[in-house]
Amino acid sequence: MRVLGIESSCDETGVALYDTEQGLLAHALFSQIDLHAEYGGVVPELASRDHIRKTLPLIDEVLNSAGLTTQDIDAVAYTAGPGLAGALLVGAAIGRSVAWALDKPALAINHMEGHLLSPLLEDRSPAFPFVSLLVSGGHTLLVDVKAVGDYELLGESVDDAVGEAFDKTAKLLGMDYPGGPYLAAKAEEGTADRFEFPRPMTNRPGLDFSFSGLKTFAMNTWLDSDKTEQDKADIALAFQTAVVETLAIKCRRALKQTGHKRLVVAGGVSANKALRTKLDAMPGVDVFYPRQQFCSDNGAMIAFAGAIRQQAMVKQDAPSFSVRPRWP
Ligand code: KG4
Ligand code: ZN
Repeated sequence: MRVLGIESSCDETGVALYDTEQGLLAHALFSQIDLHAEYGGVVPELASRDHIRKTLPLIDEVLNSAGLTTQDIDAVAYTAGPGLAGALLVGAAIGRSVAWALDKPALAINHMEGHLLSPLLEDRSPAFPFVSLLVSGGHTLLVDVKAVGDYELLGESVDDAVGEAFDKTAKLLGMDYPGGPYLAAKAEEGTADRFEFPRPMTNRPGLDFSFSGLKTFAMNTWLDSDKTEQDKADIALAFQTAVVETLAIKCRRALKQTGHKRLVVAGGVSANKALRTKLDAMPGVDVFYPRQQFCSDNGAMIAFAGAIRQQAMVKQDAPSFSVRPRWP
């Protein structure tokens, strides 16, 4: 079975073709980061317009590079939520239309399920069950993944998502949007242990997170400093270390609670090197990540989630054109 996947939930248009026998056949991505950078964040209306411009050309590109035509597609998977309503509607409208024209099934995929399953695209991929840490610009989730479609939410952020906290802290330190990777790069020049930031919600039981306090802590530390480049690097490092240690503490707890020995880490922030180093060092745990380019949003994870759900015969919602911007 060959599945065309379309991702358009935020500021990347991603398209891919996944074959259940041959694996990933082709994928293409257009990032709108430059479009939104001058506004310091994603402008939803501009995102929707750009998805309209890019989705069909990317579908052509992917089919051409795989040497296939639309007749070779067996199903169309698209991101139906969570995300920006207008942006989601573009992918949904195009995905459902292509599927309807080909008389093939249209599969409405949850974006977070796409991230969650993305490490299964790799040669070294985890067996079920596992704990998944999903860390992106919009979400921070710990999930007990028992099988495809059988997920239990263990914990989530009660305020800012971890990527959002990275971006907001980077912004107050004067970095461009999205600031996560810039802050991580700056942290490499930092002096360890100059500032000690809190590890929020770690001294009480539970698996929820809170990151907005760390951002405020970073702001106050910055305002009290001489605002030199070294101060900036030291604050970036202290912030990143606090985030990484907090995430690691909660991952350890989630693994203990579930008894699982495998941990999957996905979403944009899973690209963070300090986070990977910390989690890889956990004794007795196998940690799995998507390849670097599939940590952030992409069409491959949506095509794959569509294929794997279809194979597992996970029930699809009744056909509908609607999207779910707040899909839990
Ligand atoms: O999954 P993603 O591409 O989009 C959403 O679904 O949100 O995640 C984007 C987030 C942004 O907040 C970005 O700053 C963050 O991932 N990010 C990073 C790094 N690379 C991307 N945060 C920290 N360190 C990184 N290396
Ligand atoms: Zn995402």
